[in-house]
Amino acid sequence: MEVADSVTCIILLILFCGSAAGNRKALYSFKAQENAIAMAPSSDNGICKSMVETHGYDCEEHTVTTQDGYILSMQRIPVGRSGGTPGNRPPVLLQHGILMDGITWLLLPPEQSLAFVLSDNGYDVWIANSRGTKYSKGHKSLSPNDPAYWDWSWDELVAYDLPATFQYVYDQTGQKLHYVGHSQGTLVALAALSKDQLLNMLRSAALLCPIAYMGQMTSPLAKNAADNFIAEAVYWLGLSEFDPRGDAVVNLLKDICSKPGIDCTNLLTSFTGQNCCLNSSIVNIFLDHEPQPSATKNMVHLAQMIRQGTIKMYDYIDEVENMKHYGQATPPAYNMTSIPNDFPVFLSYGGEDALSDVNDVKLLLGSLKDHDGDKLVVQYRYDYAHADYVMAENAKQDVYDPLIAFFRLQ
Ligand SMILES: *[C@@H]1O[C@H](CO)[C@@H](O)[C@H](O)[C@H]1NC(C)=O
Ligand SMILES: *[C@@H]1O[C@H](CO)[C@@H](O)[C@H](O)[C@H]1NC(C)=O
Repeated sequence: MEVADSVTCIILLILFCGSAAGNRKALYSFKAQENAIAMAPSSDNGICKSMVETHGYDCEEHTVTTQDGYILSMQRIPVGRSGGTPGNRPPVLLQHGILMDGITWLLLPPEQSLAFVLSDNGYDVWIANSRGTKYSKGHKSLSPNDPAYWDWSWDELVAYDLPATFQYVYDQTGQKLHYVGHSQGTLVALAALSKDQLLNMLRSAALLCPIAYMGQMTSPLAKNAADNFIAEAVYWLGLSEFDPRGDAVVNLLKDICSKPGIDCTNLLTSFTGQNCCLNSSIVNIFLDHEPQPSATKNMVHLAQMIRQGTIKMYDYIDEVENMKHYGQATPPAYNMTSIPNDFPVFLSYGGEDALSDVNDVKLLLGSLKDHDGDKLVVQYRYDYAHADYVMAENAKQDVYDPLIAFFRLQ
């Protein structure tokens, strides 16, 4: 299962499996159930109204149409809380992970959330929302009720969503962008960079919980879900939309949680690794807005990566189909070694992250071994797991301040 943005999954698993927990995690499961019933009425006015203006920041809603017809929403925080002149601020594009949306960057209080911290540090902040998420459900000709609407995996995010959002911000601001991705947001950027895409519009990239290789992931829950997706791909693909709150997914989770050796009373730990610094009130804000759906095909694609340890395009597991889509019998690989050596990259990974596993990150770093020394900043947070990167109380000091210091040098 995705993996990449497990924060949601963790919570889901807690929701459906964790009610027996007797420890501190029980707090999360209990609150999760309450929240699942009354979900986020306030957010229907859009992310600017519900999550940004409430903190006293100006915010603009934008829409961008991809070449394959998806209509994506973006939010812009043009100036910091203390005002200032819009324009001439370096633009930053924030790209969330799977099963999440742009609210990823707004969960913490303003002094601690990356979007606000960047804004107050002089950046022109742009928040992307991937196709299929709550505020990016539009399409020129398809409805989310059409299976064809969900016929995509992250390959299409690389091919269409990223170029469309980049081009839009570049056109609006007339400046090259800095980029921040979390989890799947790092995967799509790495894939694009490996194909020399976007470079003409990009100043630097910060990758939090980098996902490229996933073959060594330690999370037993994620690995188990991946097996299920591969074994039953026909069933899952028939559902088109992967709805984390739907019956099929709930049953999948129940099934996994009943397996021997999977301890669903301690889900947070067994799924993402031990997050060091989550505050339960932030977890509740998170639950008010997430999880978001994705395409089942995307989940199957990620499961293929977990099983195979490779970073390739979606495998149709059928030579004829692959031939039709790619002109070859097997899916083409994304070659991490071909990311340009002089492109500025900030990469932060956590010692406790069971999804962006340390060994997989080392594999990625191995592919980047010829990168120019002064263009690759690697940060290792020994105590961080996957959710800490967007929800930890101390993420500003631990990660965001160093990230901004890196941006300032580019
Ligand atoms: C959690 O965060 C909220 C909001 O920042 C704060 O008021 C509260 O004291 C924190 N709780 C704990 C247990 O640290
Ligand atoms: C990947 O890219 C590197 C650098 O461009 C190249 O040397 C290598 O042969 C490529 N690997 C594959 C498998 O294509």
